[in-house]
Amino acid sequence: MSFRKKFIIDFDSTFTQVEALDILGEICLANDPEKVSKLEAITNITNSGMEGQLSFRESLDARIALLSAHRKHLPELVERLQQRVSKSFQINKKFIRKYASDIHIVSNGFKEFIIPVVADFGIGPDHVHANTFVFDNHDNIIGFDKENVLSKNGGKSKVLEQLQLKGTICVIGDGFTDYEMRAAGVAQTFYAFTENVHRSRVVSFADHVAPSLDEILYINKMERKISYPKSRLNVLVLENIHQNAIDFFTDEGYNVNVVSGALTEAELMNVIEDVSILCIRSKTQVTQAVLEHAKRLHLIGAFCIGTNQIDLHAATQKGIAVFNAPFSNTRSVVELAIAEIIFLLRNLTDRIFEMRNGLWNKLATSSYEIRGKKLGIIGYGNIGAQLSVLAENLGLDVYFYDIDEKLPLGNATKVYHLETLLKTVDIVSVHVDGRPENSQLIGASEINAMKPGSYFLNLSRGSVVDLDALEAALHNGHIAGAAIDVFPDEPTKNGAPFSHSIQSAKNVILTPHIGGSTLEAQEDIARFVPQKLVDFINTGNTQNTVNFPAIQLPFLKEAHRLIHIHKNEPGVLAKINQLFASSNSNIVGQYLKTNEQIGYVITDIDKVYDKDLLKQLRNISGTLKFRVLY
Ligand code: NAI
Repeated sequence: MSFRKKFIIDFDSTFTQVEALDILGEICLANDPEKVSKLEAITNITNSGMEGQLSFRESLDARIALLSAHRKHLPELVERLQQRVSKSFQINKKFIRKYASDIHIVSNGFKEFIIPVVADFGIGPDHVHANTFVFDNHDNIIGFDKENVLSKNGGKSKVLEQLQLKGTICVIGDGFTDYEMRAAGVAQTFYAFTENVHRSRVVSFADHVAPSLDEILYINKMERKISYPKSRLNVLVLENIHQNAIDFFTDEGYNVNVVSGALTEAELMNVIEDVSILCIRSKTQVTQAVLEHAKRLHLIGAFCIGTNQIDLHAATQKGIAVFNAPFSNTRSVVELAIAEIIFLLRNLTDRIFEMRNGLWNKLATSSYEIRGKKLGIIGYGNIGAQLSVLAENLGLDVYFYDIDEKLPLGNATKVYHLETLLKTVDIVSVHVDGRPENSQLIGASEINAMKPGSYFLNLSRGSVVDLDALEAALHNGHIAGAAIDVFPDEPTKNGAPFSHSIQSAKNVILTPHIGGSTLEAQEDIARFVPQKLVDFINTGNTQNTVNFPAIQLPFLKEAHRLIHIHKNEPGVLAKINQLFASSNSNIVGQYLKTNEQIGYVITDIDKVYDKDLLKQLRNISGTLKFRVLY
């Protein structure tokens, strides 16, 4: 005769995210002038007990004495605990209800608050083993039932012994007293539960570390809300990406590793094998060789606009989706461009330089307001269009040229030929993208086509402008001033020397590619990119991806979602659909899109499906990646 596994679950910091007595302390000490110090003392006592450094009775006596609690505080405590049930317990509520008859709560906490909280999850009072409070005639909590075995050291093991459960006994808990049941031989497996607290000593005794309930359900092949525990997905975060991104992944339950700088190709090759999500900025080169070592990589997040540091072709060939932050620093670039236009028209850089060197030059010659001047924008994309709006608000007369059909914003004038734009305007600002065809887009002949005495800005890509031609035009006075933020060869490290003969030209603003470098932009990137990456993991959504066919998917409702990424070669799609047709699966939705390299097919099927189908889909030749969402 075989028995199902039985799960013994701890309550404080396991079933709930918090220690109930800490919360009770917050409630009943709300108006106590010594609240902060008393709460701190309660937490310290709890931790000493958890680490096994204080006997449980000593810890409980000390905490109850500090609390001055009353029966009237209990309903609020229960309400607060219900809101703080551990995240992975909350999302698996349906399944906990299903398994409730195999679950016992064994806790050194108190039945008065545990029973109502776990009842919501289908766990009855007869499956709750815990202490009880002792009240005085005025309903003050003055102690606990000292006859209860759970108020004594080793109490949990005694309870488990008395329960005489059949089958394998698995204990899930965050504290030393939970491990004691395994040590006493009354349980066979101890899962150290680290979703809320990570106690190194306790973890060192664990048979298995469980960063969430999903992990336990997954390894025991039990029904659960999510197909694959997030804690098994390794996120590697490089290049000092903003802390918000790291916090986001950690809160979502991923296993996050952070390296402060960039990694070289060889270093990255060494660590990439187990990485599922790679987060980089512009310095880390993700080459084909790196990708060949990536066995589990699903996603690359470029926490910047540009993605030419990534071999996109190789990534796509491997079914790896790449996301970037196309608009997070748009506003920052535009603000710098506006500032530079004002600086250039007032010769400010030269005046500042002179004053710093002790020279007074109060001049009005060659100094202009920007109001009424004609600004010509080359490339009316995110940045160009935003610059158009802000510049117009400052009184500039805006013209633009773009190779694509673009809607002119405000009163901007669309120009159909680059040369016409160059001949018309007083200030030229370049905001094209870095496609190879744009290399040297602005050379000597384009500069010569500009009006004598006009101004020039490039905050797009270094390759777009012939700097030598610009320098010559600055020296001969054809161009009255220029602002350059991007260069053909940019140093990769801060503090590195920089040298170009254009440094000697007058009225030139040179900046080290800082157009998008503001705190606001970094924060927005750290919000935008992780959200897109997690959305891809959770739903398969590829909206805003750099290299995948873009599909915006509906939320998954009462269905399994099968995500199949395959080489775009003849016959693959037909095979997928043949398999669906010959299986008994009921398809509730299908979405598919291809690009030159890959096909992306998402099929939502009924919860009841033929398990062999998954294996067959995975084995179709040409399959790059296949995963199932629950
Ligand atoms: P975007 O892709 O939204 O806009 C580029 C526009 O240029 C598109 O409308 C495109 O049709 C147009 N275009 C491309 N080639 C053209 C050509 N030969 N002639 C006329 N129009 C052309 O890009 P976004 O976000 O506006 O960025 C623009 C540039 O700014 C990019 O090169 C980007 O790398 C750079 N950038 C620089 C930063 C810095 O720190 N300096 C920060 C952020 C972006």
